[in-house]
Amino acid sequence: MSTTESLFKPFKSGPLELKNRIVMAPMTRTYSPGNIPNDLVVDYYRRRAEGGVGLIITEGTCVGHKAATGYPNVPFMSGEKALEGWKKVVDAVHAGGGKIAPQLWHVGGVRKPGVEGDTPGFSPSGMAKPGKVTGHEMTKADIQDVIEAFAQAARDAKEVGFDAVEIHGAHGYLIDQFFWSGTNERSDEYGGDLAARSRFAIELIQSVRAAVGPEFPIILRWSQWKQQDYSARLVETPEALSDFIQPLSDAGVDIFHCSTRRFWEPEFEGSDLNLAGWVRKITGKPAITVGSVGLNSDFLPEPGTQNFKNAEPASLDNLVYRMDNGEFDLVAVGRALIANPDWVNKIKADQSQDLIAYESDMLKQLI
Ligand code: FNR
Repeated sequence: MSTTESLFKPFKSGPLELKNRIVMAPMTRTYSPGNIPNDLVVDYYRRRAEGGVGLIITEGTCVGHKAATGYPNVPFMSGEKALEGWKKVVDAVHAGGGKIAPQLWHVGGVRKPGVEGDTPGFSPSGMAKPGKVTGHEMTKADIQDVIEAFAQAARDAKEVGFDAVEIHGAHGYLIDQFFWSGTNERSDEYGGDLAARSRFAIELIQSVRAAVGPEFPIILRWSQWKQQDYSARLVETPEALSDFIQPLSDAGVDIFHCSTRRFWEPEFEGSDLNLAGWVRKITGKPAITVGSVGLNSDFLPEPGTQNFKNAEPASLDNLVYRMDNGEFDLVAVGRALIANPDWVNKIKADQSQDLIAYESDMLKQLI
């Protein structure tokens, strides 16, 4: 039996049925002029679907709020033309045998004035990073506008034919700016302890749930790290994680996408479980792991990192061993899929010797 066989077991969560356990991680590509995904974008995702990916999560796509975007040429999930573009993407992915969810995004304070229009950015306390003022503090009306923009984007995504939606609550963008004490100093009900700082996300998830109905799958991506600060932590213990994650789960999340840089790293002392493993154990909901899958040679583990079955910690053997042990249900792959649109089919056919190593130069075009 090939060690990777379990990656090719089907997965089901409500109406979402996947042919395998491999997910394309969301990756911003800035190739949508006018914020409209064009035919090059259609072909880019088509290649990954034909290459065997079970579930594609698109690059971050901005909800229809005037301050949602922070970078030129990122696609929108609003407006007739952008939605038409996305419909072509969805149809191509379905024709290629895959499923697809958009990642719904609002950058909050990361927005730079002058980029993609003059609307100033805003965030919970006017900051993108602790102490770095980049816009104004959101009013209650701003909060309601953004929540409605996420709900509308999810409604539109469902209408266009997407199979699920992913809410981007990770990496120091708007939702995460509420979560984190470093960027949320509000004194109203949206600030305070972590439970209060989660209120915005909870209301947003509830609103998306109401917009898409009880069955349509909602994925939440979240992370401990923020805006390239890899030491930032929201929760330091399993108990704190439980207090944080359970209300989000109850608000209507079906699948948690736990963003880490190395899937093999234990999240808390005293256990081998990674972040996805803890979230799955606490909530009982399916979890996606991510971080350096297929990038073995570039990322050497820290000394003392757990080493299952004498496999290299970063190896697919270790990944599969962990999945078989119920640590997570799905595996997201980022950079290895930029380098190899057919990464999944090559792994399935045991042709990993033909895989190309990722290089950042590959981002200079849509391959
Ligand atoms: C990313 N990542 C990312 N994450 C996210 O939630 N939304 C996004 O739009 C992006 N954009 C993005 C662009 C590029 C070029 C890269 C390389 C990464 C993070 C990505 O989803 C993933 O978590 C990391 O790349 C780690 O996975 P790999 O690459 O180690 O498999």
